[in-house]
Amino acid sequence: MVGLPELNRRTFFKGAGALAATAVGAQLLVGCNASKVRGYGGSPRALPIPPVELGVREGSKVHFTLVAQAGDTQILPDVTTHTWGFNGTHLGPTLVMKSGDEISVDVTNGLDEMTTVHWHGMKLPAVADGGPHSPIGAGQVWSPEWTVANEAATLWYHPHTHGLTGLHAYRGLAGMIIVEDEAATALDLPQDYGVDDIPLVLMDHRFLEDGSLDEEDLPDLGLLGDTPTVNGITNAHFAASTRRVRFRLLNGSNMRFFNMAFSDGRQFQVIASDTGLLDSPYEMSNLAIGPGERWEILVDLEPGEDVTLESVGFADNFGVPDDEFVPDFGMGDSFQLLTITGPAEDAATAPALPGLLVKSTVPDIIDAPERSFVLNTFSINDQQMDMQRVDVIIDHAEPEIWKVTNDNSDWPHNFHIHDARFKVVSFEGTDVELFNEGWKDTVGLPPGATATLAVEFGHYPDPTWPYMYHCHMLYHEDQGMMGQFVIVNPGDKPAVHLGSGAAAAGHEH
Ligand code: C2O
Ligand code: CU
Ligand code: CU
Repeated sequence: MVGLPELNRRTFFKGAGALAATAVGAQLLVGCNASKVRGYGGSPRALPIPPVELGVREGSKVHFTLVAQAGDTQILPDVTTHTWGFNGTHLGPTLVMKSGDEISVDVTNGLDEMTTVHWHGMKLPAVADGGPHSPIGAGQVWSPEWTVANEAATLWYHPHTHGLTGLHAYRGLAGMIIVEDEAATALDLPQDYGVDDIPLVLMDHRFLEDGSLDEEDLPDLGLLGDTPTVNGITNAHFAASTRRVRFRLLNGSNMRFFNMAFSDGRQFQVIASDTGLLDSPYEMSNLAIGPGERWEILVDLEPGEDVTLESVGFADNFGVPDDEFVPDFGMGDSFQLLTITGPAEDAATAPALPGLLVKSTVPDIIDAPERSFVLNTFSINDQQMDMQRVDVIIDHAEPEIWKVTNDNSDWPHNFHIHDARFKVVSFEGTDVELFNEGWKDTVGLPPGATATLAVEFGHYPDPTWPYMYHCHMLYHEDQGMMGQFVIVNPGDKPAVHLGSGAAAAGHEH
């Protein structure tokens, strides 16, 4: 299981597609050599639904409590694995917030080492953003506050510990955030959490013989896994009770790009991107989702039918050369994620799809300042992350144009910006076609690609706290593929208090 040469061969997920056709019980990703993979087979287990957390609400003030903790979890069917989680042993509850809510959170670090918690996709003051400058020491509590400025969307939270984000997320510190607003709630879309509105946290792991997580970074690939999990288990099964289901897809993996499709190639409707609803539903039969990204999809199911949600190999290998000189990023892998059975005969007919979901807007970028970011190996604009260096100063409230290039010819990257949402206004330099509609906060970058982004930032000027932008392939981020920006009032200079985050942000429990 540990042999690197084997992992570098394009073998792991091959064969899963063929197995799909056999028995439900044998589904999932048995690699070419099943003995390399522990715990497969056995019966599928019911898809766990992360508990919903509404917080304690008084009017528009809502208080959440999160405790990062360690424990034992049955990710595989026949063995327990030591994992981390929020308010439980693995992953975290789904936090539900409404636009305009005044949020306060107490995040207690019940682990025996430092971590941080970042609210990915949220527009909020940098002091509350939970980046690497906001460490929460073991036993400490961090208490950020902000008002939800986002529209309805599927966001998430995860650690952002300097150099250790990947490992902390891999161990299980990740949860979903659902932001609701009145316009979205009024739409005739599935929105009964856990019934027809289903969170799917997609990850991948590697396991040692004793069931513990294999935490060894592979050369160039970090914690790319060979064992996909959905909501924290392998071999998950969802028994639908309605004819239309909304899946909120979150790629919480360190390094893997999934290419979502159903086993029978059926069409589904994409209704939301990273940071909100699309203008209208888009019919698709496959959909790329890179590390950190979210999509919401609707799928219609016939009573009693069986269908499987899969990840299929990218036909173009995501633009990554498929040869022995390039690390195997897994772009050609095909494997199953979730078996699904349709509802009962008497399930109500699904309503007509709303034609219009939200009014489409684009940031006004006519006179917007333009910046470029060139990603190459572990650096951005030839520099690696330095907590002491501010790379970008934004001294206005208007949108900007960020031109982001993947300068590697054989590595994929992606690009995420904190405190922001953006539209991809052009996508060039690659033949790979990515679906980039809607508001996003993370964009995939095949080799050679240049994405031009019209970026709208949350405007909370504060010279003392930086935000991050980075590649969200977490091994790349942890290797330094990250930079810092501050938002200040016109003419102000950044005055980041460096390395003092722990003292400023935490207090004894
Ligand atoms: Cu989800 Cu800075 O990241
Ligand atoms: Cu983020
Ligand atoms: Cu990268």
